[in-house]
Amino acid sequence: MQVNPSWNLLLFLLARLTCSPLPMPPDPSQNKYVGAEKCAGCHPDVSFIQKASEHARTLRSAKAVPELQAALPLRFSDQTNEIQYRLEQSSAGGLDLVATQDQRTERFHLLWAFGAGRKGITFVGRTDAGEYGQSRLSWYQKIKQLDLTTGTKKNARDPHEALADWLPPVRLQECFGCHVTLPEQFLPEATVETLAGIQCERCHGPGQEHIEAVTEGGRSDLAIENPGKLAAREQIRFCGGCHHQPPADFSQVLQDKKTIRFAPPRLVLSRCYDESKGQLKCTTCHNTHENLATSAEYYDQKCRSCHTAEAGRGSPCPVAKKDCVSCHMPREPLMKHSDFADHWIRVLPRTSHKSGRP
Ligand code: HEC
Ligand code: HEC
Ligand code: HEC
Ligand code: HEC
Ligand code: HEC
Ligand code: HEC
Ligand code: HEC
Repeated sequence: MQVNPSWNLLLFLLARLTCSPLPMPPDPSQNKYVGAEKCAGCHPDVSFIQKASEHARTLRSAKAVPELQAALPLRFSDQTNEIQYRLEQSSAGGLDLVATQDQRTERFHLLWAFGAGRKGITFVGRTDAGEYGQSRLSWYQKIKQLDLTTGTKKNARDPHEALADWLPPVRLQECFGCHVTLPEQFLPEATVETLAGIQCERCHGPGQEHIEAVTEGGRSDLAIENPGKLAAREQIRFCGGCHHQPPADFSQVLQDKKTIRFAPPRLVLSRCYDESKGQLKCTTCHNTHENLATSAEYYDQKCRSCHTAEAGRGSPCPVAKKDCVSCHMPREPLMKHSDFADHWIRVLPRTSHKSGRP
């Protein structure tokens, strides 16, 4: 996917400096990253769950994608140019994407797998000649097969062009920027496996002072960021650092269905957000340490926390008492083999009153 890079940590710190509801550590420059293993010592339950989550697994070494390894080799044939593809085990234990046309064969060593696999996995890799690129083929959960990556150039002329969208490493650093834990890990060669994926300190900031604060005492605060305590607007901006920020001008969001992919700009259009006086934020409905909840009852409960006569924070529905999301936040097919829930919560025209769930 291609979106403007925006460093959520920086934005977060800026937001903290200007309108911080939380105490800042006395000298943030002295604070150091300690790694998720350290956190696990005192927060075993959160760590156990988070480690297995899609945030944590959103970037993996191409050597560590068991769900694909078990299915190899995978094949795909591009009908438009008769290029045959094979995803196979590489001699180094990782994955290679191989493209063949007539007698010509080209090979692409896949280094990194982007996407935990809930919807799809796209690769970043390198050729023997040292060229970097984003694979033109992705693996999709819905079909459990390879298909062309959404947004890739059509009609590749030869096997080399067919393997990847060739990009300078500096362009690829945008991808790493939203899929790794530490900012200095932003280049394909600089990322190490243990820090790939979104772990504790990407959202909570460096942990050293926190550990000192809780072990040595003598501090009046816990010296750690907790995005759960941010006011609604700031929290939406914090998550929006990766999930896309609400723009200054909403005309594009109103017209372009593709923006359904991004929760923050859509959520803030909802009357639920506007008229609940700061009570609706991302963590109202999501436990960020866990994988996405998908049961209708889970979300019904969240809606009912406002929309019942007893709760009194929003009017009850005149039409139905359950499955709220199926009518008011339907899933829309936006990209290849992927659909997304529309976070602009509203009354839609009758025709949309169906669940988009496969
Ligand atoms: C030596 C034990 C220890 C370690 C190691 C530790 N914590 Fe904590 N943490 C605590 C204690 C004690 C509290 C306060 C009680 C609670 O909320 O569980 C706390 C609270 C927190 C909170 C809640 C803060 C708030 O404002 O509500 C967060 C977030 C947190 N820790 C994150 C982390 C992260 C991230 C790491 C790793 C970088 C980490 N902790 C490592 C002991 C520890
Ligand atoms: C550093 C970037 C980053 C930040 C910060 C971030 N996310 Fe994500 N989030 C991602 C990526 C990347 C994925 C895709 C995971 C995958 O590969 O499936 C994701 C996936 C998700 C999902 C989809 C469900 C899932 O488990 O895959 C939810 C829900 C979500 N994020 C909510 C949040 C919320 C709420 C916040 C703020 C508290 C937040 N995220 C902060 C990058 C981020
Ligand atoms: C601005 C932050 C950002 C950038 C830059 C970014 N991603 Fe993501 N990526 C996300 C978030 C957030 C998600 C989860 C929600 C979604 O799918 O939009 C995600 C999801 C994914 C997924 C899982 C598929 C899916 O739809 O859930 C793949 C694969 C992926 N990204 C690959 C890439 C690649 C390759 C690049 C670079 C070309 C890249 N991303 C750049 C934030 C980013
Ligand atoms: C994608 C962002 C993200 C990541 C990664 C993340 N957290 Fe959190 N964490 C949050 C948010 C948001 C909250 C606030 C939850 C709430 O208030 O509903 C939170 C709350 C906490 C708390 C306070 C207690 C609680 O559960 O509400 C602790 C402790 C904590 N996190 C520890 C960790 C540890 C340890 C890791 C790594 C294993 C981690 N977090 C990874 C976003 C994140
Ligand atoms: C924090 C409280 C809160 C939560 C949680 C919440 N809402 Fe709302 N919602 C409101 C308020 C306040 C309004 C404004 C008008 C009213 O209903 O009284 C509103 C308005 C609406 C409307 C009318 C929109 C329109 O355009 O006229 C719908 C539909 C709706 N909510 C559905 C939902 C659904 C479905 C959920 C759960 C996924 C939900 N809400 C969760 C507070 C909330
Ligand atoms: C009122 C409840 C509610 C709020 C608030 C909310 N979400 Fe969601 N979110 C949902 C529902 C419902 C789904 C779809 C669940 C399913 O697939 O069953 C979802 C799905 C997602 C997904 C996965 C994309 C998809 O549809 O597959 C991401 C990413 C996400 N939310 C991010 C966020 C972020 C970031 C925020 C804050 C800006 C946020 N959400 C606020 C209810 C909410
Ligand atoms: C079968 C589809 C469907 C389901 C399921 C559904 N709604 Fe509705 N809802 C509607 C329609 C249609 C309207 C508009 C009714 C009208 O204007 O007469 C509406 C209106 C609303 C309104 C606006 C009420 C007002 O007086 O302005 C709210 C709030 C709402 N729904 C919340 C919910 C919640 C919460 C749930 C789950 C408990 C839910 N809805 C389940 C279809 C549905």
